[in-house]
Amino acid sequence: MVSLKGKDILHGNQFSKREIDAILKVASGFERELKRRDSLTLLKGKILATLFFEPSTRTRLSFEAAMQRLGGGVISMGSVESSSVAKGETLTDTVRTVSQYADVIVIRHPRIGSAREAADAASVPVINAGDGAGQHPTQAILDVYTIRKELGSLRDLTVSLVGDLKYGRTVHALVELLSLFGARLYLVSPVQLRMPEAITSNLKSKGIEVVETEDLMEAASASDLLYMTRIQKERFEDLSEYERLKGSFIINEAFLKRLNRKVAILHPLPRVDEISQEVDSYPGAAYFRQVKNGIFVRMALLAMILGKA
Ligand code: NCD
Repeated sequence: MVSLKGKDILHGNQFSKREIDAILKVASGFERELKRRDSLTLLKGKILATLFFEPSTRTRLSFEAAMQRLGGGVISMGSVESSSVAKGETLTDTVRTVSQYADVIVIRHPRIGSAREAADAASVPVINAGDGAGQHPTQAILDVYTIRKELGSLRDLTVSLVGDLKYGRTVHALVELLSLFGARLYLVSPVQLRMPEAITSNLKSKGIEVVETEDLMEAASASDLLYMTRIQKERFEDLSEYERLKGSFIINEAFLKRLNRKVAILHPLPRVDEISQEVDSYPGAAYFRQVKNGIFVRMALLAMILGKA
């Protein structure tokens, strides 16, 4: 039996295929439940704390909505400026404190490894909602949930991951999960923003076919799915480098017409200019359905971590 009770969620590589299957199953159950009623009482009396040291719209709000749909409560640090972090409190002390108030903590922080640090300091489970250019495992789980819904299966897919593969934490986590299902991967990025070597060599050692290219059309022509990402402006030391690289890969109607192949298009959002608005009505454009799926998956994770599913 799969159990996530009391566990931290820190990294895409922590999951077995069985665990992912179990999470997706629980998430589907919640999706069905929410068609019949607005909210459940499964986590009544439990409290989620959200600590976001970086901007967020979807991740924070969907965790908060997920907790409330399960009947639980939410406390939130608000902004860095409004908390004791502004007085110089360490991450460790902040997390130790919040552990006294909440049953589970969701954290986003600009430093790679910060979520693990928080988990070491916390006395309750910690969920990594993005640690700098590191990992974003819950996004990856909602991504595979979406992929399975859109394409019917996760097995033997050919996937193009496009954009900022160096700093993009969502793709760092997603490739870990895709590798459990035997995907072929096209990594499409400017050379300056290639997927870190440690990740690609690890994928190859697991027998995953990896093609690195700058040719989006070539990759897309062989793919079932395009996973677009934003160039992560806030990670650049040299903004002129960002200016040079932004707009490297753009999907618009003309591109899809030339591609002449049905593909699913996902994006963790926010988008800048990677996907033109005119693409939103394309049947394969799944990014807003992906947003919605975030609720079901985060409900599943919270319920499982708190031992109620
Ligand atoms: C992503 C993130 O914060 O890493 N957004 C998200 O959580 N959906 C992607 C991004 O910021 O580009």
